[in-house]
Amino acid sequence: MGKKSREIVGVDLKDLIKDLNKAYCDEWLAYYAWWYMAQAVEGKGYEDMAEFLNKIAKDELEHATELAERIIELGGLPTNRIGNLEKGGNNPYPGVMKKLNDYDEIIKIVTAAEAGAIEVYNKIAKKTFGKDHDTYQLATHIMGEEIGHEEMFENLIEK
Ligand SMILES: [Fe+2]
Ligand SMILES: [Fe+2]
Repeated sequence: MGKKSREIVGVDLKDLIKDLNKAYCDEWLAYYAWWYMAQAVEGKGYEDMAEFLNKIAKDELEHATELAERIIELGGLPTNRIGNLEKGGNNPYPGVMKKLNDYDEIIKIVTAAEAGAIEVYNKIAKKTFGKDHDTYQLATHIMGEEIGHEEMFENLIEK
């Protein structure tokens, strides 16, 4: 990203890069937890649950990639230490289910983390609206997918 392109970003760049880096950490933590649960899940119909988890894990990894690209475009660098991911996020590591066939817990973990992610991107979208068009677009695009993730897992709750 050139000088002029950075100049027209109407928000504090350092602050924005910090926000994006925090979201970047959240995405890796979510990716890891969803991926892990997809491998480990057991019980009746576990293949379907594993498929759902793999699908959203793939999306979170894509979000991490998109955020890394934007951070670099803005002149920053994504967190370069794996050990910083856990303390560097907005939200703590979502964790995984204690019992491998506990679908209720899986759903609870996922929906809580997705709700947190929606809040994070909503904040970034509000902050960049009319000021940094590309980051705004990215934040609303990712937020739309997080909304889909929350919905997908909310729909699994047996009524
Ligand atoms: Fe995500
Ligand atoms: Fe998500």
